[in-house]
Amino acid sequence: MSIQFYNRRGTGSIKWDRIGEDVLPLWVADMDVASPEVITEAISRRLQHPVFGYTDPDDEFFRSFAEWTARRQGWRPERKWQLYAPGMMPAVRALVAGFAEPSQGVIVQSPVYHPFFTAVTGQGRKLLENPLVRREDGGYEMNLRELEQLAALPDARVLLLCSPHNPVGRVWTVGELEAMMNIVVEHNLVVVADEIHGDLILPGNRFESLGRFLTREPWADRAEDSVVVLQSPGKTFNIPGLPSCQAVAAGEGLRRGVRRSFEAAGFDISNILSLEASKAGYRGGDAWLDEVMDHVAVNRGLLARGVSRLAALVGAGNSPGALPESGDAPGHGVTEAGGSWLSPAQGTYLAWWDASPLCRFFKLDAEQLNRRIRDEAGVFFSSGPQFGAGGEGFLRVNLGCSREMLREALERLEAWLTKVVAAEPGVR
Ligand SMILES: Cc1ncc(COP(=O)(O)O)c(C=O)c1O
Repeated sequence: MSIQFYNRRGTGSIKWDRIGEDVLPLWVADMDVASPEVITEAISRRLQHPVFGYTDPDDEFFRSFAEWTARRQGWRPERKWQLYAPGMMPAVRALVAGFAEPSQGVIVQSPVYHPFFTAVTGQGRKLLENPLVRREDGGYEMNLRELEQLAALPDARVLLLCSPHNPVGRVWTVGELEAMMNIVVEHNLVVVADEIHGDLILPGNRFESLGRFLTREPWADRAEDSVVVLQSPGKTFNIPGLPSCQAVAAGEGLRRGVRRSFEAAGFDISNILSLEASKAGYRGGDAWLDEVMDHVAVNRGLLARGVSRLAALVGAGNSPGALPESGDAPGHGVTEAGGSWLSPAQGTYLAWWDASPLCRFFKLDAEQLNRRIRDEAGVFFSSGPQFGAGGEGFLRVNLGCSREMLREALERLEAWLTKVVAAEPGVR
């Protein structure tokens, strides 16, 4: 099998068609890779029947997901634990509204996928920010001490977890999740775990779903009334335009709450083609996904080297605590490279680039820098500040693109910056 990348200009793609014709899009989180053939075949088969009426997810929809998680993630949800939702953010919003009353608190760990903020404040719930801690090596961890303090507030109800974490790329360890779960259980919170990036794991790393807590002693009984796991084939198989989502809640009372929230949000219709795509991907998308993540790992190495060269052009050396030049990791292509200004990541196809040397050089914030790069170099990223506290000085780079496009983007950036530095040496 060989994965194929496409120029998506003119297809109505948000990523490609919302920005200038000449600009290379490395922003919105979808990939330019064709979805697995098993998915296009399944959709074509369904199209042979010309009636597209109201349709329920069938047993195979839930079974294919359960077998996928058993095979790939080491846990298997029971059939009765599972519910369908028409997309990840619709599910997140419904559960925030369902488990926190107006003005009650929802804990969010910034910098984080920005629609989390509007899911909370846009529905009149109180945002309790629990910013991640940035370590010396540029990696991130949870601030468990502050999490405990926020969880102890009388009106705290929900912890909205992003796992793996967009934008920083952390795949949380069992130890971290256990420490977090102790706080959740102790303070009677509900953790809504957005695991949409859970299958996008870089080679050599392992994803720990909160679902494993639901099936493993001593956690199963303790966690069943506190954990709602949300997963989706949208990112996994690059089909976010065919939205669907699996919700898993093991405890009966908790599941009643999930069902009520979904009913209140009007989730009673599903998209026929999304259902077919989901089943086919979970049944047969394994090899395709492994190939995609190997590709992403090599792209990460390329980007790490590229951004280090950009930092050097404005007089910044290696980032503090950066990994040494490591070359190829056996079997997985290039991983982290020398002096990386990228946060070390274990998952997602997103890279979190500390562009603060460029911000300082231009005396711009990251959002202004991103616009200047778009207008002058013809490359566009996601701006760090939109992800909340801790996003200042960062750009988020989408590596789900062809190698050729990434190379061209890096060449454009280097040519542009070289020219600017030559013309404006004093700015430094
Ligand atoms: C963490 C996270 N949650 C949810 C979504 C969106 O999911 P959906 O399109 O299914 O609503 C994204 C997309 O980037 C995401 O990164």
